Amino acid sequence: MTIDRKYIDQFTNVTSKAALAASYFVGKKDKIAADKAAVDSMRSELNKINMIGEVVIGEGSLDEAPMLYTGEILGIKNGPAFDIAVDPVEGTNFVANDLPGGIAVLAIGEKGNLFNAPETYMNKIATGKIDKGLIDLDYPLEKNIKNLSEFKNKDASLLTVCILDRPRHKTIVDKLKDLKVNIKLITDGDVLGALYVSDPRYNVDMFIGIGGGPEGVLAACALDAYNCHFQGRFIFDNEKDINEAKLMGITDFNKKYELNEIVKGDSLFCASGITSSEVLNSIIIEGDKFISETLVTHKSSNFKKVVKCVNPINE
Ligand code: FBP
Repeated sequence: MTIDRKYIDQFTNVTSKAALAASYFVGKKDKIAADKAAVDSMRSELNKINMIGEVVIGEGSLDEAPMLYTGEILGIKNGPAFDIAVDPVEGTNFVANDLPGGIAVLAIGEKGNLFNAPETYMNKIATGKIDKGLIDLDYPLEKNIKNLSEFKNKDASLLTVCILDRPRHKTIVDKLKDLKVNIKLITDGDVLGALYVSDPRYNVDMFIGIGGGPEGVLAACALDAYNCHFQGRFIFDNEKDINEAKLMGITDFNKKYELNEIVKGDSLFCASGITSSEVLNSIIIEGDKFISETLVTHKSSNFKKVVKCVNPINE
């Protein structure tokens, strides 16, 4: 079974409209209002789709999120069963402060095929397509850089590694500097950060570091369609997270997840630009129409492209 191609347009419409809803809050210094607008829009549009869609990664559990909560069933409930991962506004700071990189994101897998990620941090590593065993989350950084440098036939000083600018990454950044590797620091938004490895035009050879687990699963869906390499390990460092993980059926708290354990089978990924970035243009409003750009990947049909849409605002 695969996800029918007809869903490409439908889910592109969902993230485009969520991006439009959030775009009214660009530069308004109100992350919560931007997120709420995107959540409301996403939920209402998802509920128009012919599917039985279960939110496996959402805005939290029912008691903290009235909408798009983990476990919520969406759609008109007579179509195929899907797992849905949503991040209505990824990069809330970007949207609140009118900075590049705010996106509305979702990923769809067939029922039972998207990893039900806990809301903890995840240690991640991503590169473009490589030979098996070449790059590993458990290798020392020096070994990963050396291996990638040999594989790409590029001196380490010509490699670029993208990483979130956080104090927790100081040791990694210091080592990269010693190795003369170029560092692309991002202040937020590690879904796009990881996706930079998918295309040479972004000039990023490796993405590493600790960011959100749910963002890791979303990025993995798109990276899978590009045949990229991705591994992630959730970080359970407090009692609450450990207990929640146990309830989700996780027993090995130190497990390193391969891409094919995070997303199995077919998948569909859509990310629409709210503010502009290297990957996507922002929402543009022209009269009673809006223009959106969405990065869409659909694994089974090998569809991977930025889709530009012009739609009426009040449809
Ligand atoms: P939000 O859009 O929810 O604010 O998340 C932005 C983000 O930068 C993610 O891309 C990233 O995975 C996570 O926050 C990193 O978390 P932290 O800011 O706690 O380091």
